[in-house]
Amino acid sequence: MRPVVLSATGLYRPPHVITNAELVTAFNAWVALQNAAHADAIARGEREPLQASSVEFIEKASGIRQRYVVDKAGVLDPTRMYPKFAERPDDQLSLMAEIAVDACRKALAAAGKTGADVDAVICAASNLQRAYPALAVEIQQAIGAGGYAFDMNVACSSATFGIEQAVNAVRSGTADCVLVVNPEITSGHLEWRDRDCHFIFGDVCTATVVEAAATATAADQWEVLGTRLATQFSNNIRNNFGFLNRSEDADPLARDKTFRQEGRKVFKEVVPMAAAHIESHLHSLAIAPSDVRRYWLHQANLGMNQFIMRKLVGPDAPAELAPLILDTYANTSSAGSIIAFHEHRGGLCAGDLGVVCSFGAGYSIGSVVLRKR
Ligand SMILES: CC(C)(COP(=O)(O)OP(=O)(O)OC[C@H]1O[C@@H](n2cnc3c(N)ncnc32)[C@H](O)[C@@H]1OP(=O)(O)O)[C@@H](O)C(=O)NCCC(=O)NCCS
Repeated sequence: MRPVVLSATGLYRPPHVITNAELVTAFNAWVALQNAAHADAIARGEREPLQASSVEFIEKASGIRQRYVVDKAGVLDPTRMYPKFAERPDDQLSLMAEIAVDACRKALAAAGKTGADVDAVICAASNLQRAYPALAVEIQQAIGAGGYAFDMNVACSSATFGIEQAVNAVRSGTADCVLVVNPEITSGHLEWRDRDCHFIFGDVCTATVVEAAATATAADQWEVLGTRLATQFSNNIRNNFGFLNRSEDADPLARDKTFRQEGRKVFKEVVPMAAAHIESHLHSLAIAPSDVRRYWLHQANLGMNQFIMRKLVGPDAPAELAPLILDTYANTSSAGSIIAFHEHRGGLCAGDLGVVCSFGAGYSIGSVVLRKR
């Protein structure tokens, strides 16, 4: 089996920022419009008035301060409350492929590679903008890659699950250099009109180059010591949007056709699962959690990551051991742990150990144990 490295990452960051203050202003304007439109029913007690959101709640409950989005105007329009994208003709690069190509090109440049060096592209994301042809194949063509390409979706764990497929392909010799790309336009699936979750997500795209150690030339390389994936069915994070909606005569705009979650249950159930998963994965490699120099964790909630670190290394875990990016990016689904890895892997020395870990809908958990070369 050949040694495999992560040799580079690339990040596409959308041009627009929405601060919590802007988000709450738009949300509360929408609430006022709705309550005015239904004032009679509310007065008769037939309808509950909608409640306002607040910046203080969002920051205390989640740690999120702002998010990047591909379209800002549609999201903040209180008469719309979701992004507005122009439909593209079939012969134009699709929106998800466009942001993916940007992140892929940056990752390839950082790895000292061109598209021609890539022999597999895995597009791993929590939402895919069409059924087929696979976005990955469109991305493969746009960057001039050879080999094969496919899409996959394991929600927030898509990146780590994709990395394991890439690592296995390179280890076994069916590919030499694989791009795993995570275009997350979460603004399209978020219910911006639900105060329980309207603040959670942001848009972004990450790309990771996974290649044989023998061909890697990048200055910054991370040997993959192991990957481990796990799933356990739960309805606590769910989105019923799908190709059978039409045949079910279902309302395509119904609440269940966008992101829903039981946030409290997710918090309580996933924290111990993620901590136990990381601990047992490290144990299988004869590594103690305290030997790890950096944890690049999924970025859903500040409190979740603090709990996981406390369970793994005790109450004195320094904040820089598990760097935070959700304050500026919010939850970017599968891309979150990769953004943390992209932005916070400096300052480590050859031989230092790190763990990338994602967790989310499914439930799903994926971990990748790395050693700096
Ligand atoms: C979503 C999350 C931030 C909510 O935080 P929480 O502390 O659980 O908050 P709750 O939903 O229990 O709400 C607490 C109270 O604040 C209220 N509230 C909810 N949203 C609010 C908002 N935007 N503004 C003000 N108040 C709000 C609730 O109505 C509730 O009021 P009540 O106590 O009177 O019923 C948190 O549960 C979480 O992050 N969970 C994990 C999420 C996750 O990892 N998801 C993965 C997605 S891929």
